[in-house]
Amino acid sequence: MTSVSPAKPADSEPRGSIACVGLGMTLGSHLSPLARSHIQQADVVFAALSDAIVEMWLEHLHPDVRSLQPYYGDGTNKSRAVTYREWVEVMMAEVRAGKRVCAVFYGHPGIFAWSPHEVIRLARAEGFRAHMEPGISAEDCLYADLGIDPGRLGCQHYEASQLLFYETPINPCACLVLWQVGLVGDRSMTRFSTGTEYRQVLVDVLSRDYPLDHEVIIYRGATLPIEQPRIRHVALRDLPATEVSSDETVVLRPAVPLRVNHAVRERLAALDRGIMVPPN
Ligand SMILES: C[S@@+](CC[C@H](N)C(=O)[O-])C[C@H]1O[C@@H](n2cnc3c(N)ncnc32)[C@H](O)[C@@H]1O
Repeated sequence: MTSVSPAKPADSEPRGSIACVGLGMTLGSHLSPLARSHIQQADVVFAALSDAIVEMWLEHLHPDVRSLQPYYGDGTNKSRAVTYREWVEVMMAEVRAGKRVCAVFYGHPGIFAWSPHEVIRLARAEGFRAHMEPGISAEDCLYADLGIDPGRLGCQHYEASQLLFYETPINPCACLVLWQVGLVGDRSMTRFSTGTEYRQVLVDVLSRDYPLDHEVIIYRGATLPIEQPRIRHVALRDLPATEVSSDETVVLRPAVPLRVNHAVRERLAALDRGIMVPPN
């Protein structure tokens, strides 16, 4: 088997470096050879993973794995924004100390995750080498488990709260994937779940574009090899009364067929016939 190795720093660069890698969703089976190599060659490994079992598994790959979970400060009303800034600082402290740092995140490190992007931005701004190594995300798993091809009708992804906090145009001709529905509407960034009333606000917003009997898929991909994906179907009107956990993603298939753009098709047809038609 060919072995893979992360690139070495040039002599002029400071010695510290950081690689943010994705562990994938399912323990053991999703880790890429390159991500594994970043982990094994690091001086110190930080971990923000889906559960403690996954963290224990990671400890078999490296003797110095430091969990980022305790920074959440459960039950202390601490804002996640503070936690995520602390993650960046604790990682950067090791980079500045000249260490080769690897930060391991479940899924893809750059998908719905602030700290990996921020630590890479900051490390580069300070002249250190920084790299993001992609992983298999919940998004990838849901395409496979739900049989959705985002290229067929299009696919839009939003953090659910964005639809509540901002005027966000939705295209009901395409799939809609909503992340973090379990804590939709949490403005404080201190809560790990919100309730029925908050999901009702989400349904009220969605009902501008979808009928209340439109099917909603509540999806949880497997994180352990012994698990199967969990796929629940409810009508949009029943979403408020349905618990949605922090490790579930909500999917709405299109509600409206694609609309033919006659004007542009005619222009293209004219081009095919060699006639130049000015745009309107
Ligand atoms: C902070 S984001 C992290 C996403 C992660 N970086 C990835 O690549 O999948 C957390 C959200 O990911 C989704 N998620 C996490 N675990 C999941 C799972 N096992 N199955 C489906 N969605 C999941 C949920 O929407 C959850 O609210």
